[in-house]
Amino acid sequence: NAIGPVHLTVNGTAHSFDLPGDTKLIYVLRNDLGLNGPKFGCGLGECGACTVLIDGVPARSCVVTLKTAEGRSVTTLEGLGNLEMLHPVQAAFIAAQAAQCGYCLNGMIMTATALLVRNPTPSVSEVREALRYNLCRCGTHVEIIRAVMTAAG
Ligand code: FES
Repeated sequence: NAIGPVHLTVNGTAHSFDLPGDTKLIYVLRNDLGLNGPKFGCGLGECGACTVLIDGVPARSCVVTLKTAEGRSVTTLEGLGNLEMLHPVQAAFIAAQAAQCGYCLNGMIMTATALLVRNPTPSVSEVREALRYNLCRCGTHVEIIRAVMTAAG
């Protein structure tokens, strides 16, 4: 639990944090950097609402510590695109009206984006498999899967 500084790159920008190494990454992203894409759901690594990409791999920022992320490259929802230039996955989720409450969508979009990088043309069952540990309590899974298939083209 040594005090920092801990260095990491977030959405392409290098940062240094003087915080305890066991600080959970989601608090650094939301509270210190104002990146509210990652959502706090369960806080136990089970729901996926807090998903970010670490070196391109989906990770649950509510359980990843700052020290674990040291030297790595973190991408949040904000790092994918913005209102002026949406990422294709973000655009597909909007077109499919995939949100009901929307709380899970950060995790769905981040996980789907990583899937499409490693498998640009997934089958529906592969999309289901990739998203199986991202929980949606509203039940909009049909629209979410449709959005991912649209983004895959
Ligand atoms: Fe991180 Fe649920 S809030 S997995």
